[in-house]
Amino acid sequence: MYKFKEKYEYYLKIFEDYAKSQADKLSTMPEILGESMKYSLFLGGKRVRPVLALAVADIFNIERSDILPYALALEMIHTYSLIHDDLPAMDNDDFRRGKPSNHKKYGEANAILAGDGLLNTAYSICIEQCLKGEKYCLASQILCDYAGINGMIAGQSLDLKLTSSNEKSSENDLLTIYTLKTGKLLLAPILIVSILNGGKYYLELQEFGQNLGELFQFTDDILDEIGSFEKLGKTIGKDKTEKKLTSISFYGLDGAKIQADMRATKCYNILDGIDGDTEFLVDLISYIRNREN
Ligand code: IPE
Ligand code: IPE
Ligand code: MG
Ligand code: MG
Ligand code: MG
Repeated sequence: MYKFKEKYEYYLKIFEDYAKSQADKLSTMPEILGESMKYSLFLGGKRVRPVLALAVADIFNIERSDILPYALALEMIHTYSLIHDDLPAMDNDDFRRGKPSNHKKYGEANAILAGDGLLNTAYSICIEQCLKGEKYCLASQILCDYAGINGMIAGQSLDLKLTSSNEKSSENDLLTIYTLKTGKLLLAPILIVSILNGGKYYLELQEFGQNLGELFQFTDDILDEIGSFEKLGKTIGKDKTEKKLTSISFYGLDGAKIQADMRATKCYNILDGIDGDTEFLVDLISYIRNREN
């Protein structure tokens, strides 16, 4: 019988085995560069984005060998974004995934380079995929664009601009930050699968991914407010101390929960209209909404 947790572990293992096999081939001179990259890559992240990629790929019978390189490139980009996000010049976080953040372990300069190294390696993986044909190029382009200056990086920049800002921020500012800094890297795996599948359900999947991205950041904010360090593995209450514009500062805790529920409902409704076995995705939405880490 199907059980969500077991299925999640199943996808996790497929990804982990693949990521390890690829990372084993990665050797750098000096060694500290590769070591610091692998430190954060294998620090114990939830791997929501790769699991999402594998799960959506299964609905449309996409070959594992086609989706895994993108899943790895995406997780590398996500990991680099967290290494840089934790730097003293950005969010100044000493912990990530329950362990010292990259700069706490290797120093700031090495942490910057570990992030650069992960980003660059992700691009090399994407370029290698392009050689397989046009749709693989389009899939690579989505990931690179969404990670870039009109995607995640723009979101991080706007997040910084509006932190401790004296300007009054609007709901549109908040949602723009969330769509860009978090949403784009959750939308990317979903649209990559759609592209590899010839564009089927592109618009539905796009709307699904956008709502999922917002839901993910709302729950991240809620956990910063009411979560525990033990479960979350990162410093709690950081958003308030840093005077961040978040869904909590904007809607209040109860308001943020309602906004999160609205996104989850939207996701369930979209999945209803998609042919195929979406049971795991439905449960993944509930898991993200109710997660404790
Ligand atoms: C944290 O992402 C940063 C956000 C985009 C909200 P995750 O919650 O996916 O972090 P890990 O990878 O599991 O540590
Ligand atoms: C991070 O958002 C989003 C990224 C693109 C890295 P946060 O700054 O809220 O993520 P955490 O809470 O540090 O994981
Ligand atoms: Mg941040
Ligand atoms: Mg942060
Ligand atoms: Mg946060």
